[in-house]
Amino acid sequence: MSIRDENNPGSYGTGVSQETFLVAPVSHFWASRLVAIDSTWNPKSWSIQLFERELNEPLARVRGLFVGNLLVGYLIAHVVFDEAHIVSLGLAPEWRGKGGGRFLLKDFLRCTRLEGINSITLEVRVSNIAARALYEGCGFMAAGLRRNYYSDNGEDGITMRYEVEPRRWRDRSAPAPELCNVQHAESLANTSPATVAPHVQNAR
Ligand SMILES: CC(C)(COP(=O)(O)OP(=O)(O)OC[C@H]1O[C@@H](n2cnc3c(N)ncnc32)[C@H](O)[C@@H]1OP(=O)(O)O)[C@@H](O)C(=O)NCCC(=O)NCCS
Repeated sequence: MSIRDENNPGSYGTGVSQETFLVAPVSHFWASRLVAIDSTWNPKSWSIQLFERELNEPLARVRGLFVGNLLVGYLIAHVVFDEAHIVSLGLAPEWRGKGGGRFLLKDFLRCTRLEGINSITLEVRVSNIAARALYEGCGFMAAGLRRNYYSDNGEDGITMRYEVEPRRWRDRSAPAPELCNVQHAESLANTSPATVAPHVQNAR
């Protein structure tokens, strides 16, 4: 587990600074890399066709965590009206415990505010201590237990929920919500506008 350097809020105990990470939409170019990362942790690994389907799906948000020009993690969520459901989140093993998972998840939480999403749900294995701690640390709360949810081993799943403070979002007199990875979105816009997610483009 990472140990945070309390004297330096921009870095984690592993010496990896948050500036190391960038989050951006994932293109089809990375489909096989998504498969490779997923296969390191998912007992029912996704095929490349499944990832391609997510990349083509208008309701899916596929966000990538990049270090330099390498994809080291991903988050996939489905958005329906004002609700999002995180269907997958994973990092390459060598990049775990360095703050990247939190960076990626927090970026997504900011994006959902911009989309007017009110709540986010997910399922996590009871035994997945690291993921549960990540979600709890980011404000998710346990909302239910699904018995035998995971078909590979019959493990229970915990449903977790995050509320996006809808009142603040709707109250126009309240301060504007934090912008979604603005600096990075702007730098992407200067290079290749087509790679910026539609919801980031729409937010401008
Ligand atoms: C779960 C996962 C996404 C977390 O990402 P990460 O980059 O390793 O996590 P971070 O370094 O950002 O740590 C964020 C928080 O997660 C928790 N955490 C991370 N690794 C942990 C570990 N090994 N044990 C306990 N808690 C851990 C801690 O609360 C940590 O906060 P802290 O550093 O202040 O203690 C990552 O470990 C992973 O890809 N695991 C395999 C895939 C997976 O389980 N996905 C979740 C499916 S629901």
